[in-house]
Amino acid sequence: MADPHPQPLGDDTGDDLAVRLTLLNAALATKVVCVRRYTRHALRANGPHHQAVKAAFGQHAREEQDHALRLAERIQQLGGRPDFNLGGLMPRGDTHDDEGRTLVELLRENLEAERLAIATYRDLIPYFAEHDPTTQRLLEELLTEEEAHASALHALLEP
Ligand SMILES: [Fe+2]
Repeated sequence: MADPHPQPLGDDTGDDLAVRLTLLNAALATKVVCVRRYTRHALRANGPHHQAVKAAFGQHAREEQDHALRLAERIQQLGGRPDFNLGGLMPRGDTHDDEGRTLVELLRENLEAERLAIATYRDLIPYFAEHDPTTQRLLEELLTEEEAHASALHALLEP
C-alpha cells in the first residue's frame, strides 16, 4: 500500500542524505555563531541612547537560538547528529574584540551576517525543494525571520 505521507528519507540515496546533513550542520554552526555575536553585542550596547539597539540584538540572539534548536531538531529527525563544534567558523565569527568598536560598526557586522544568511538560505531552498520538502519549509520560515532581522538592523543604521 502506498504511504500517503512518504518520509523524505525513504526516497533518497544515502549520498543525498549525507549532503543534506552537511548543509544543515553548516547552517547550525552559523546560527550558534550568530547567537554568541548578538549576545556579546547586546552587552556592548549600553546607555540610555542605545536601548533600541540593545533590544534588537537581544531579540535577534533569542530568535537565532530558536533557529539553532529547530535546525538541530531537523538534523536529529533525519538521523544525523547535530554538530556544535564550530570548527573553521570560530576565527571569523567569534573572536572579535568588541572593545572600542562603535555601535554602527556592530550593526554593520550583524547586517552583513544577516545578508550572508539570507543568500545562503536562498541557495539552499531550491536544493531542498527537490530532495526534502519538510526541510525546505523550515528553511523558508528561517529565511523570513532573517529578512526581518536585516530590515530591523537597516532601520537602526538609517533611522
Ligand atoms: Fe538573523
